Amino acid sequence: MFRLLYISRAAPTISDEQVQDILQCSRRNNPNTGITGILVHGGGLFMQVLEGPEQEVLRKYVKILDDPRHSAAEILYISPANNRIFQKWSMGGIESDSLQFQYISKLHARRLEVVDANTFTETMREFAQRLREAK
Ligand SMILES: Cc1cc2nc3c(=O)[nH]c(=O)nc-3n(C[C@H](O)[C@H](O)[C@H](O)COP(=O)(O)O)c2cc1C
Repeated sequence: MFRLLYISRAAPTISDEQVQDILQCSRRNNPNTGITGILVHGGGLFMQVLEGPEQEVLRKYVKILDDPRHSAAEILYISPANNRIFQKWSMGGIESDSLQFQYISKLHARRLEVVDANTFTETMREFAQRLREAK
């Protein structure tokens, strides 16, 4: 098991419909490769967690990098993992309001110091909780 978190700049012209297309496509594809995760969109950014078998996660990330609907992807966290945080979501979607967005910027701001495992896990558990509440 492997977990990767990246942040990227959404294309300036991206529409809600395009974000929904990305989520639908992800939910169609990811179960075939054992990938689960979350996609957060807001404030002109995407943040995505991909978790699953190492080769599948890396392959998917490389494919996603080529997508013109975003750019300037930066990996914030990458690590082997014993279990999934988002096991119930082939790709959970969160449209981030300003409150949620502060979690993303917190991770981004710590980029240079490397996001430590505790901050990462804490933040991701909050996202998982939000997904559960949204159901
Ligand atoms: C921010 C972002 C996140 C994405 N996440 C996924 C994903 O989790 N799984 C996936 O299959 N495609 C994802 N995509 C879409 C891929 O880049 C690509 O369009 C898609 O995998 C192509 O699927 P197809 O080969 O079935 O046409 C994402 C795209 C963007 C811009």
